[in-house]
Amino acid sequence: MNVTAGAVPATDIRVRVRRWLKPVVFVACLLPLAWLAVRAAEGGLGANPIEATIRYLGDWALRFIVIALAVTPARLLTGLNEIGRLRRMVGLFAFAYVTLHVMGYVGLDQFFNWAAIGKDIVKRVYIMFGMAALTMLVPLAITSTDAMARRLGGARWRRLHLLVYPAAIAGVIHYFEMIKAGFMQPLIYGLILAALFGVRLYKKWR
Ligand code: HEM
Repeated sequence: MNVTAGAVPATDIRVRVRRWLKPVVFVACLLPLAWLAVRAAEGGLGANPIEATIRYLGDWALRFIVIALAVTPARLLTGLNEIGRLRRMVGLFAFAYVTLHVMGYVGLDQFFNWAAIGKDIVKRVYIMFGMAALTMLVPLAITSTDAMARRLGGARWRRLHLLVYPAAIAGVIHYFEMIKAGFMQPLIYGLILAALFGVRLYKKWR
């Protein structure tokens, strides 16, 4: 027995972490949206609230993609298998933020003018890369359920879900192409992605 008087047994801590981890992370993932709603209600989004909203949602979309990609390396490096249970949820939040970001562009910026959106996709390289990233994320969101994973079979499902890497790279290029100055942020995202990919490869081939 490795428990001293008054201390909580390690197995109890694991059970509690298992029980609370998902709900806590779920609420945490909603906080950026709540923050945006509060700022919008206060009129605190600056002179161009539409642009600020689209950019804010784009930033969080990319952050959640990176966090989702960090789950497996974090599990492999720490050995905390509980963390692995968060990957799907964080990935779906990433998709939700991407969807809201794109809805902001389509509805608030372009007023559902599909002809103008079509022209924008062809004309602006950064929109093209954004669309490429979105197109790769859609099948991942659709096949995220256990039933779909069973239908596809483990190996095919895992191969399909590798699409998250090119999607993340396209998201970073989209950011890189969009900005005119201050390339530090997309560069940092690119380096983080390279490091996460490196950890996966190192653990796979070691
Ligand atoms: C995985 C997909 C995507 C990610 C991760 C993403 C992420 C981002 C990021 C990080 C920014 C820059 C935010 C900032 O400056 O702080 C941005 C800007 C933008 N994104 Fe995306 N994006 C994605 C897809 C798309 C798609 C599909 C569209 C449109 C079809 C789009 C339209 C825009 C626009 C219009 C801006 C610039 C907003 C402005 O300055 O007016 N994005 N996005």
